[in-house]
Amino acid sequence: MHIAKKVVENLHLLRVDDPDTRFFEGLWEIPEGITYNAYVLATDEGSVVFDTWKGRYADEFVEAVKEVTPLSKVRYVVLHHGEPDHTGALPTFLKAVREAGSDPLVLGHPMIKGMVESMYGIKLRFKPVKDGETLAVGDTELRFIYTPWLHWPETIMTYVPEHEALITCDAFGAYSIPPKAFDDEFDDLRWYEKHVMRYAVNVIGKFRQHVVKALEKIRSAGIKVSVIAPSHGIVWRRDPSFIIDIYRRFGEGTVTKGKVVVIYSSMYGFVENIIDHVVKELELRGLTVTTFRFTEYEHSRLSELLGELADAAALVVGVSTYEGGVVPSMEHVVNLIAKKAAYPGRPALVVGAYGWAPTAGRIVKDALTKAGYEVIGPIEVKGALTDEVKSALNAAVRELSEKAT
Ligand code: FEO
Repeated sequence: MHIAKKVVENLHLLRVDDPDTRFFEGLWEIPEGITYNAYVLATDEGSVVFDTWKGRYADEFVEAVKEVTPLSKVRYVVLHHGEPDHTGALPTFLKAVREAGSDPLVLGHPMIKGMVESMYGIKLRFKPVKDGETLAVGDTELRFIYTPWLHWPETIMTYVPEHEALITCDAFGAYSIPPKAFDDEFDDLRWYEKHVMRYAVNVIGKFRQHVVKALEKIRSAGIKVSVIAPSHGIVWRRDPSFIIDIYRRFGEGTVTKGKVVVIYSSMYGFVENIIDHVVKELELRGLTVTTFRFTEYEHSRLSELLGELADAAALVVGVSTYEGGVVPSMEHVVNLIAKKAAYPGRPALVVGAYGWAPTAGRIVKDALTKAGYEVIGPIEVKGALTDEVKSALNAAVRELSEKAT
C-alpha cells in the first residue's frame, strides 16, 4: 500500500508501507513494520525525485511517481544515501523514465555513483554535488548538505528554501507504519518516541555523535526548518522540534534518571535467581526496571533491548559461564551493546553463575568497560544464592542506585 500526498504546495510525499520485513537489515525485529518515503518536487522546469523505495516495491514506485508528475518531466534524481531501502527501485524507475523520453541527471555525494552502479549493474548519468552546493530548479534553489554517517559516509540532505523543508533520509526516521503521514494529523505522538529510539539506536547507534554534529551544522547554516521530511515514518510540518528533540537526546545520550535496563540469560534458573533478587532490591529503592531475558522460555527482542538502553541511567547484566566463556546469547548482546549502545560513564552491574569456573563475568566486565561503562562487580555464584552473596548484591545495588538517580 502506498500514499502519494502533498507535503506542501509542489513538494509531494511518496510513501510505501512494508509490513512484511520482520528483520530490518536482516537483523532487527520490527513487528511494527516500516515505511520507505521518497519525495517529488514538481516545478515548471521539470521535476526532482528525491530517493526511491526498496526494490520489491519498484513497480509500485513508478506508479506512485506518475500520480504526482509525468515521468517525461523527471529532470533530476537526488540520491541522499545508497542503502537499498532507498535505491532498490532506482533501476526500474530510471528505465521507466527513459522509456517516457527523459534522461534524468542523478545527483549525490561523489561516493554514491560507484555504490549504486556496483549494486545494480547500471550506469548513471551522474553529477557529484559538493557540500553546500546549490541547484536552481523552478522558483527555488536546492541546497545540498553533507551529513556523513547518518547513516553511511555518503549521506546528504537537501534543503528546499521555498518551503523551508529539509529532506533528511535516515536521520529523523523511525520504525512503524504510522496510520497517518504527517505529524499534524495526530493529536498525541508520545507513542511514536519508542519507535524512533529503537530505529535510531539499531541503525545509527554507532554513529550517534554524528547526529549531534549534523544538528549543529544545520543550526549554524542559518536555515529555517519548518518541515522535516525523513525516509522512514512520519513527516514533520507542524512541529519539527518534536523529532529534533528526540534525535538530540539520542545523539547526546541523555538519560532518564532512575531507569534501569536489566538483561540476562539463564540456562537453568541460577542467574534468574540472582536477577530476581537484584530487581527486587532496585524496585525497593524506587528505580524503574525494564527486563530483557534469554531463557528456556523466552528470548527478548534485540531491537527493543537496544532502544530501551538509549536513555537508561544504569545497566544490569546477568550471565552464565558457558564452555569456559560467555554464554553465546549474551556474548552477542554484549557485542551489540559495545557497537550500538556504548555510553561512557554510565554505571553497570555484572552478575553471574557458573558450574566450575567463574570466567563470564570478567569477560563481560572487560567488554563493557571498554565500551565506556563504569562496571560494578562481577558478582558470581556457584549455583545457589547464599546470604553472603545476597549481602554483596545489596551493596552493589545500593552503589548502582546512587549513580542512577
Ligand atoms: Fe534507510 Fe540507511 O537506510
